[in-house]
Amino acid sequence: MCKQTVVITGASSGIGRATALHLDQLGFTVFAGVRKEADGISLKSEASSNLEYLLLDVTDGDAVQIAVDTVVRHTDGRLHGLVNNAGISLNAPLELMPNTKIQQIIDVNVVGLLSVTKAFIPLLRRTKGRIINISSGHGVLAVPDKSVYAASKFAVQAITDSLRLELHPFDIQVSSVVVGKVDTAVLGKILSDREQIIETSPSEVVKLYQPLFDFFDGEVKELSGIPPSEVASLISEALTTGKPKSQYLIGPGASKMRNLARLPVGLRDWLMVKALYK
Ligand SMILES: NC(=O)c1ccc[n+]([C@@H]2O[C@H](COP(=O)([O-])OP(=O)(O)OC[C@H]3O[C@@H](n4cnc5c(N)ncnc54)[C@H](OP(=O)(O)O)[C@@H]3O)[C@@H](O)[C@H]2O)c1
Repeated sequence: MCKQTVVITGASSGIGRATALHLDQLGFTVFAGVRKEADGISLKSEASSNLEYLLLDVTDGDAVQIAVDTVVRHTDGRLHGLVNNAGISLNAPLELMPNTKIQQIIDVNVVGLLSVTKAFIPLLRRTKGRIINISSGHGVLAVPDKSVYAASKFAVQAITDSLRLELHPFDIQVSSVVVGKVDTAVLGKILSDREQIIETSPSEVVKLYQPLFDFFDGEVKELSGIPPSEVASLISEALTTGKPKSQYLIGPGASKMRNLARLPVGLRDWLMVKALYK
């Protein structure tokens, strides 16, 4: 029976929930970060008695400290894995993106991830533990309509690469998982946020960006994704394998985006302009 402990942020739904339940089944002691009590209760109802939930909004410094204290109390200060999964996504051309949303995406996807990671490093050092950061194809290839989300996921890649070397002397391994399309609630949220932005923005400006809406909304609606359980299996592999990779790719689009990112900029831009504005 595996007695390793792991913290997962954003475990109320999607990839985080699937990962929490999968690791629980494998025998990990899972601390699942949720923002609502009801989500924690729901998770517990499907898990073993080992799973605990933490009320953890990653943008709330006090909540982060309470989460650390709770894990210390239950584990004698030893943590084997931190899965930074909590994240939000929003598609919009920058001109239409509300400033509050820009702030929120950066706060959750970047500042929250940094502050949670910083707080758990001492616990991970005691076990030579692992950090897994959930990134995106948009963390390796920046496309239009996603400047803010891409900025946040490029930051996740940068944090992963920096910390892997910074924490190397302590044998803390740091990996990212570059996720393509996964069928989770985030896809519905992207489409409903899009509708709201269109309704509340000047129609003459909205019209200017119609090709982007057609292309990227089509991708969200039509491209089929993988189930979150596949990402959960990959995360468990990254936590348990003898030698974790620095970067994992999974899901439709992830490898394609990484390959496009490797092309010369001029060629890459030409291909994208052709696809978007034909
Ligand atoms: N699905 C995809 O196609 C896809 C592709 C690439 C990358 N990803 C990445 O995968 C990760 C998980 O996304 P998902 O697809 O599983 O979406 P999801 O079902 O919407 O899950 C997002 C999770 O993040 C949590 N969250 C949001 N704001 C938070 C905050 N301030 N503090 C703590 N938790 C917060 C949500 O909690 P609440 O329920 O309380 O809001 C939820 O548990 C994200 O980092 C996302 O960027 C997903």
